[in-house]
Amino acid sequence: MATNRTFTMLKPDAVENGHIGAILEKINAAGFRIVALKKTQMTKADAEAFYAIHNERPFFGELVAFMTRGPIIAAILEKENAIDDFRTLIGATNPTDAAEGTIRKLYATSMGENAIHGSDSDENAEIEGNFHFSGRDKF
Ligand code: RTP
Ligand code: MG
Repeated sequence: MATNRTFTMLKPDAVENGHIGAILEKINAAGFRIVALKKTQMTKADAEAFYAIHNERPFFGELVAFMTRGPIIAAILEKENAIDDFRTLIGATNPTDAAEGTIRKLYATSMGENAIHGSDSDENAEIEGNFHFSGRDKF
């Protein structure tokens, strides 16, 4: 299992607000190499499957509506210690709690609309990467 890769999505709010370039620049500046990247839009079934772990949570319907309302940027990233370093770079789920300089502090608007996703484990990075990429872009 790879330990030097993670998976990310720039969420619909970040794309709508014109932050694709700025966020990718921060990702590069933090030492991540982009190994696969695409613009796509998740269907309701996609979002329900991707976030299935949260399907009992009160915010699940809101999360699916948000994640499907516009395009996202999906990417596989490579760096030593990728999972932990990327979670540090994006900051806490709620931008109010996110550290200064983190992507969520800079670009998230709320707990729900928080600009960016980062995988939380090697196992989930592989599952999530392969949810969005196949063939030569496989995780
Ligand atoms: P992500 O999976 O997107 O990287 O975010 P995370 O690990 O920091 O947070 P997680 O607990 O996995 O939640 C997934 C996403 O659900 C939305 N959320 N809304 N309104 C709420 O209380 C609430 N809580 C979570 C966020 O978009 C969060 O990133
Ligand atoms: Mg999560």
